[in-house]
Amino acid sequence: MATFGIPWTQKKYRPRNLDDIAGNKEPLISFRKWLSSWEKGIPKKKAVLLYGPAGTGKTVTAEAASRDLNFDLVEMNASDKRTTASIGKIVGTAAGQSSLLGKKRLILLDEVDGIDSRADRGAVEAIISAIKKTKWPIVLTANDPWNPRLAPLRNTCLMIQFKKLGLRDSIPYLKKICEKESLEIDDRALKFLVERNEGDMRSIINDLQTLSTGKKTISYDDVTLLGWRDRKSNIFEVLGNVFKAKTCSWARKAIELSEVNYEMLFEWIYENAPTQLSDPRDRAKALQALAKADLFLKRIRQTQNWRLLSYALDFMTAGVAMSREHTTPGWVKMRFPERIKLRAKARREKALRTSIGRKIATKCHLSTGRSIQYFMPYIKQIFSNKPRDSKSIADWLELDEEMIEYLKQ
Ligand SMILES: Nc1ncnc2c1ncn2[C@@H]1O[C@H](COP(=O)(O)OP(=O)(O)O)[C@@H](O)[C@H]1O
Ligand SMILES: [Mg+2]
Repeated sequence: MATFGIPWTQKKYRPRNLDDIAGNKEPLISFRKWLSSWEKGIPKKKAVLLYGPAGTGKTVTAEAASRDLNFDLVEMNASDKRTTASIGKIVGTAAGQSSLLGKKRLILLDEVDGIDSRADRGAVEAIISAIKKTKWPIVLTANDPWNPRLAPLRNTCLMIQFKKLGLRDSIPYLKKICEKESLEIDDRALKFLVERNEGDMRSIINDLQTLSTGKKTISYDDVTLLGWRDRKSNIFEVLGNVFKAKTCSWARKAIELSEVNYEMLFEWIYENAPTQLSDPRDRAKALQALAKADLFLKRIRQTQNWRLLSYALDFMTAGVAMSREHTTPGWVKMRFPERIKLRAKARREKALRTSIGRKIATKCHLSTGRSIQYFMPYIKQIFSNKPRDSKSIADWLELDEEMIEYLKQ
């Protein structure tokens, strides 16, 4: 029987060496070859882009290779806004300095396709310039490298493709795990697991761990009970996993199911914890866990130390789940995070105010700022008190429905 704790995919069955990684033989060979070519001096391509579907081993390949070839791994997640904001600086420093003990460095920039286009204009250029000046090998990963924004990276990097695992590579690997766990599972069940997850090893191993709780044998029926994986699990299910989880691992799994980023997930959990955990004792514990998660998140923002992320995630998922001790079971509606809603509303209103300001500005030959500051308050007064006059003003200024609604408030 398996014991629960950390997800297998994070530690116990996270390949430590390149030889432990299943399938993808060719990309692994090219990658190793490229990395060892650094021993003879700086090669022409100073960065690689490992690309392919999720859960095929891109990230662990970089990690395992750094262990095998004795590199110090400097790991960053590129999909985070704040990483990309300072990417040039971070990569630049890490790329230039030699490491403390004179050990070689390997820089991993994970999930570059997550770079947000609007927020991170310049992030791609920053990466390119870091690649130009680096003395150390740089590894980028992406699920989807064909995004036009990533075009410059495709030209700069050695492209190495990872493919989702087929039955031939995945089944023997999974059987080894089952053996180590003393789990009995029939072939049909294993095959179904692989197909259900479309060769995504992370999800397959997660499923296996879930199924093995409290069991020594897993039948085909057990697996079919999981149903087909809805790969875009909605946020409510994700939250359900956090608040109703009986084990830490279940709660933590929420992160993998979640399509939203962890900060948004934090907001969702923070908003709903007080109502989901109705007993004050549970609520107090949950808020304590969230406060700790918040501290870690803040520290990450300040120091860019991404190794702390797993602590933050543990506190906000498992920490909250384990606070549930006295709350009686029952269904309580989930709410959209109020802080996000308020921020969105404020943004919308600001945009509306500006566009009304522009309308006034053109008619009255003023700046938009002045129109908003001096004229808008009067117009708002008229709109909320004198509907008849407001009609002609609205016509004159050519205001649309939404603007009129706003002025009436
Ligand atoms: N090819 C593979 N062989 C063995 N395990 C794998 C493989 N690919 C993924 N995994 C499992 O999934 C976990 C996550 O892999 P990861 O490298 O993060 O995937 P990716 O970066 O491609 O999304 C690993 O720790 C491991 O447990
Ligand atoms: Mg990855």
